[in-house]
Amino acid sequence: MNRWEAYGRRIRGSIARNLQSASDAIRPSRSSTELRRRVGGLWDEMGSLQLNFLIEHGLTPESYFIDVGCGVLRAGRHFVRHLDDGHYCGVDIDDAMIAGGIAQLKEDNLESKGARLRQSTTFEVDFGEKFNVGIAQSVFTHLPINSIWHCLSNVSEVLAPSGVFYATFFRGPEGPERFTPIQQPCLEGRVSVRTFADENPYHYSPQDFARMCENLPLEIEDIGDWGHPRGQQMMAFKRT
Ligand SMILES: C[S@@+](CC[C@H](N)C(=O)[O-])C[C@H]1O[C@@H](n2cnc3c(N)ncnc32)[C@H](O)[C@@H]1O
Repeated sequence: MNRWEAYGRRIRGSIARNLQSASDAIRPSRSSTELRRRVGGLWDEMGSLQLNFLIEHGLTPESYFIDVGCGVLRAGRHFVRHLDDGHYCGVDIDDAMIAGGIAQLKEDNLESKGARLRQSTTFEVDFGEKFNVGIAQSVFTHLPINSIWHCLSNVSEVLAPSGVFYATFFRGPEGPERFTPIQQPCLEGRVSVRTFADENPYHYSPQDFARMCENLPLEIEDIGDWGHPRGQQMMAFKRT
């Protein structure tokens, strides 16, 4: 190889390395891509869908907010930006999600907003605040009934008077028909989910949630369709 060929090779190598690092800077890392896939993809769509829904239902910057099963902050990043400093709290069972959420806040320059994130296997939602609003998006769809009950019980203790906790669920029938798997309706062109009474992903009847709330200071409002692309419905749990 002569001097000019060697020079050309060095230049090409240097350009390729610069292009690679520029593309790494704008593209999520492989672990972040994997975490985004695990929370269901639809990164931009599901983030803004949740924020817009909650703003329509009274979320203001002054609200104290609890995000149960916050994942890698697909929606949390929008909430943190919208809320006053220190008003966002999130819990997730998976410490990789919490680490990914912290990295996401850094990537979005939201570190100074005072978001509080916690890994918990037992729905430890006591952050020393009374929450006005909260959500569990695509969480109850993966949980057996007693885990949902546990979550609602803990959340009911930290909701402000007239605070509301929203949770998405797959709708199923009351009675023994529930034991037949359901192919859930979804938006046109989207993937329909098959759900079960006793296997993940779960479906529940509104009466299931009403029964869970019988001994809790919560009452339900069945909101139903809220535009979820894969047919998850919305239930509101209001502090009585
Ligand atoms: C489908 S993801 C949704 C994440 C987030 N809510 C969103 O919309 O992007 C479900 C999340 O719930 C978390 N999760 C599952 N079981 C949980 C539990 N028992 N307590 C807290 N988080 C849980 C998972 O780790 C995961 O991050």
